[in-house]
Amino acid sequence: MIELKNIKKSFGTKIILEDVSAVMKAGQCNLIIGASGSGKTVLMKCMVGLIEPDSGEVLYNGKSFTTMKREERTDIRKEIGMLFQGSALFDSITVEENIMFPLNMFTTWNHKKKIDRVNEVLARVNLVDTNKKFPAELSGGMKKRVGIARAIVLNPKYLFCDEPNSGLDPLTSMLIDKLIREVTIEYNITTVVNTHDMNSVMEIGNSILYLYQGKKEWEGNNKEIIFSKNKRLNEFIFASEFLQDAKQMRMLEETGKVPVDDNNNDNPLP
Ligand SMILES: Nc1ncnc2c1ncn2[C@@H]1O[C@H](COP(=O)(O)OP(=O)(O)OP(=O)(O)O)[C@@H](O)[C@H]1O
Ligand SMILES: [Mg+2]
Repeated sequence: MIELKNIKKSFGTKIILEDVSAVMKAGQCNLIIGASGSGKTVLMKCMVGLIEPDSGEVLYNGKSFTTMKREERTDIRKEIGMLFQGSALFDSITVEENIMFPLNMFTTWNHKKKIDRVNEVLARVNLVDTNKKFPAELSGGMKKRVGIARAIVLNPKYLFCDEPNSGLDPLTSMLIDKLIREVTIEYNITTVVNTHDMNSVMEIGNSILYLYQGKKEWEGNNKEIIFSKNKRLNEFIFASEFLQDAKQMRMLEETGKVPVDDNNNDNPLP
């Protein structure tokens, strides 16, 4: 479990994150959604320590990551897997070497043990026999899967995926989402996914945090989002007329009527 308590971050005079609090549970995909520039990546970087928040606290299983010593942070970092925006594979080395990279960094295993583990995770992401290929020889979806394999190679407790679907077609996106969800449940990982992909929200959003200009505007799950009356959220998620109609239809299907208010800060704007 990861807890965020009143995270604040500014760059110069520009406030990027304002008092963001949330709980991200193990065994589920915790989505952070919001428009471009709303602070998703900055928040994720605050969570893994790539950016220090100005105030507030990040806790990993109840332990304050914000105040802990350097060595303790390194221990937590070993338990973190990260899928960067655009996969961020090393172009000049093979798939096998890319996936082996964290094992070389953080383990003292012998070569055979490392190769076995690489093959295990490659099988997990359906990329058997791609060991000797270079990233340039792979499709976008395959690169993402290699990125996922590298992110899970150390058996992480925490998995961070920044825009895992950017640049992928809808079908491949769904396969990547499915894979992320499967490994999350299989290994009971606390997974955090930054996305503005509508399909992901509906498919894997058991917990959704919506950021609007650096503030938590709404939180809930993919069922509640259908019934949400939050105007900003609706304008963001159901941007097209088509999707607005689809939302209305779904609401009618579920209840036979347009529903009443739901929970939390889900108020329509004046
Ligand atoms: N290192 C930095 N220095 C100054 N400003 C930054 C820095 N990193 C991010 N920002 C600013 O913080 C704001 C939020 O950026 P962030 O990358 O978190 O957005 P995002 O929600 O991830 O957007 P996208 O969906 O486009 O990835 C932006 O206005 C950005 O310019
Ligand atoms: Mg981003």
